Amino acid sequence: MPPELLHLITTSLLLLVAAGPCCLAATGGGGGDGRQFAYNGFAGADLALDGVATVTPNGLLMLTNGTIQKKGHAFHPSPVPLRAARSFSTTFVFAIFGQYIDLSSPGMAFFVTTSREVLSAALPGQFMGLLNGTRNTNRGAHIFAVELDTLLNAECRDISSNHVGVDLDSLVSRGSADAGYYDDGTGRFQNLSLISRKAMQVWVDYDSAATEVTVTMAPLGVSRPKKPLLRTAVNLSAAVAQQDTAYVGFASATGILFSRHFVVGWSFALDGPAPALNISSLPTLPPSGPKPRPKVLEIVLPIASAAVVLAVGAAAYVLVRRHLRYSEVVEEWEAEFGPHRFSYKDLFQATKGFSDTNLLGAGGFGSVYKGVLRKSAMEVAVKRVSHESRQGMKEFIAEVASMRRLRHRNLVQLLGYCRRKGQLLLVYDYMPNGSLDKYLHDRSKGGTLDWPQRLHIIRGVASGLSYLHEDWEQIVIHRDVKASNVLLDDQMNGRLGDFGLARLYDHGSDARTTHVVGTMGYLAPELGHTGKATPSTDVFAFGAFVLEVTCGRRPIKQDEGNNRVMLVDWVAEHWRNGLITKAADTRMLNSRFNLDEVSLVLKLGLLCSHPLPNGRPTMRQVMQYLDGDMLLPDSSPAAYLSSTMLEWMHSPELNTNAIKSYVSSTSFGVISDLSGGR
Ligand SMILES: Nc1ncnc2c1ncn2[C@@H]1O[C@H](COP(=O)(O)OP(=O)(O)O)[C@@H](O)[C@H]1O
Ligand SMILES: *[C@@H]1O[C@H](CO)[C@@H](O)[C@H](O)[C@H]1NC(C)=O
Ligand SMILES: *[C@@H]1O[C@H](CO)[C@@H](O)[C@H](O)[C@H]1NC(C)=O
Ligand SMILES: *[C@@H]1O[C@H](CO)[C@@H](O)[C@H](O)[C@H]1NC(C)=O
Ligand SMILES: *[C@@H]1O[C@H](CO)[C@@H](O)[C@H](O)[C@H]1NC(C)=O
Ligand SMILES: *[C@@H]1O[C@H](CO)[C@@H](O)[C@H](O)[C@H]1NC(C)=O
Ligand SMILES: *[C@@H]1O[C@H](CO)[C@@H](O)[C@H](O)[C@H]1NC(C)=O
Repeated sequence: MPPELLHLITTSLLLLVAAGPCCLAATGGGGGDGRQFAYNGFAGADLALDGVATVTPNGLLMLTNGTIQKKGHAFHPSPVPLRAARSFSTTFVFAIFGQYIDLSSPGMAFFVTTSREVLSAALPGQFMGLLNGTRNTNRGAHIFAVELDTLLNAECRDISSNHVGVDLDSLVSRGSADAGYYDDGTGRFQNLSLISRKAMQVWVDYDSAATEVTVTMAPLGVSRPKKPLLRTAVNLSAAVAQQDTAYVGFASATGILFSRHFVVGWSFALDGPAPALNISSLPTLPPSGPKPRPKVLEIVLPIASAAVVLAVGAAAYVLVRRHLRYSEVVEEWEAEFGPHRFSYKDLFQATKGFSDTNLLGAGGFGSVYKGVLRKSAMEVAVKRVSHESRQGMKEFIAEVASMRRLRHRNLVQLLGYCRRKGQLLLVYDYMPNGSLDKYLHDRSKGGTLDWPQRLHIIRGVASGLSYLHEDWEQIVIHRDVKASNVLLDDQMNGRLGDFGLARLYDHGSDARTTHVVGTMGYLAPELGHTGKATPSTDVFAFGAFVLEVTCGRRPIKQDEGNNRVMLVDWVAEHWRNGLITKAADTRMLNSRFNLDEVSLVLKLGLLCSHPLPNGRPTMRQVMQYLDGDMLLPDSSPAAYLSSTMLEWMHSPELNTNAIKSYVSSTSFGVISDLSGGR
């Protein structure tokens, strides 16, 4: 039942009861000396209330009213002369109504304190409105409490989420026990659930001679069990009984969940047993069950029927809106790709409506959202690409469908796609550890990757790329190998992503290309001349990637004088000066750092960056070098880098229009690939 309805029902019932002829006895201040009092309900009682505490019309003391993160206190109006007493005794009946029957807010407590200030500074939530921290820091004041705690809080060293504790100036209890009682007949322990919404009675007795407090509890109506639940040594003479008088009352608080705490009756006495409560004259609690009373239905039914009319209208509105919201573009030819197609509605719901909180990042041609598919509970990454043109879409979808069959543990699996007007959505496996470039270049995460991890990632990417080039039925050229396209799975394996960009490259067929796909710094020099992507241009990009990972530097860097420094040149420079390993990322220095491996990988990176396509190894050879199955050729810098390297890199031919448009260093692809005819 929604809390509002419960509230409505409760209030109406309370009003009915209050209007009845029942007399609710409240015999406060028995004897007039404040040494003894009894409340069989609180109607007309002169309690001092603060926070959200109120007395309901039928006489229930409601300490918290269902608003979250609030506290409420109720004090007996006059302080009691505790110092003049040897002992005290109190009994009360309470009930806790949580939002859920099995999940509750913090509990409530009976307290005795020398100062009301402690309570006014107290916090809600786990502090139960008793203290403003785990311990009382107010040196001039003391507080004793018996807590009925319904939360398991590590800071307070709680034993369970359903316990009774004896506290003195601290929420770390002196003694505690799971809520329940020992049956007088059988002697067996019976559990009680504090948040069961049922009324329960508690007896607290302090014996100053024995310096001991006992706490006993039982369901309402069961007479006081002989064996107490809890017996705890505590000396109050130096604490709450130190000053002439002390305040007594109840505190409770709510946390992040709605709950209400009720005290139904209460009696107290100094130097003797607390007066018995008259159970039959206690006010009644709100109904705890989910079933509303017939009387209430009379109020609810007209509201409900009005609501039905409204609901039908709203449903019609929602259906129309939904139709627009989830509309897709499906064309006839797509039927053959059916299984790879996701419905827009599923993706919309999976990503919470492509909300900003689900945004993983934005690349050169669209945003990537995290999603959880509702049916399979599978985590996915949805890339949303906007496209204007329909040209080439069929070929592209055919590619997506065939790429779905590419499976390798170092590739980010493409699961399928969806199309809408002006939008293409690509669905990939979700990679929990994000993209590699963050680990290399973000200050906050810098140095988190040690050498063995980096080598493992380089090996993985090499293996994935080798699969694309050589192990599949067709040669697949990735075209955009770079650190930000390498994603890390939960085991920190490197996986090559962004297959949406790769275009199939059939053996022997004409690979006319009108656009260069790629990112500055990773583009092979010959692309500037031919504009034609080949496996060997992928190897060049892989070389730049290897150096980037090993050195922790971007392939192109602007130095102080605003000159572009190529990472390749920088590494080669170190080699010529004698020690190539000096170029490695210094942030890995304290990890297991195998100089031979680092040196091999750097040299391999340079070899792949060879300005001439024929000078570069194939990905299969790269794998052999990495595995030590083949030795790198002649180990001198000159063998790897002809002196023409720099000239190539800075030659005017490189600055062709094709390259110029990508100097922004963002990748591009699908969009222009699609709109620019094939
Ligand atoms: N499959 C995925 N799993 C988790 N995060 C991803 C996935 N794909 C992309 N991302 C995140 O989204 C960001 C943008 O992706 P992308 O558009 O591919 O960027 P770029 O254009 O730089 O390659 C990435 O940096 C990455 O953090
Ligand atoms: C609880 O009491 C507070 C303060 O009196 C009030 O603002 C809030 O609306 C009440 N909540 C409910 C559910 O009655
Ligand atoms: C708690 O309240 C006391 C006064 O009762 C104050 O001295 C102390 O600084 C407060 N502590 C915190 C953590 O707010
Ligand atoms: C009391 O509750 C505890 C924890 O929920 C449980 O382990 C125990 O068996 C229960 N005992 C009885 C007598 O119900
Ligand atoms: C209790 O504390 C008082 C005051 O500090 C002290 O006089 C008394 O001896 C203590 N009682 C016991 C049993 O420790
Ligand atoms: C208890 O309350 C009932 C109803 O109010 C009354 O009839 C009865 O006399 C009371 N009993 C005692 C012992 O006060
Ligand atoms: C990678 O992800 C796994 C699982 O999500 C996590 O346990 C691990 O700490 C992550 N590693 C890093 C370096 O963030």
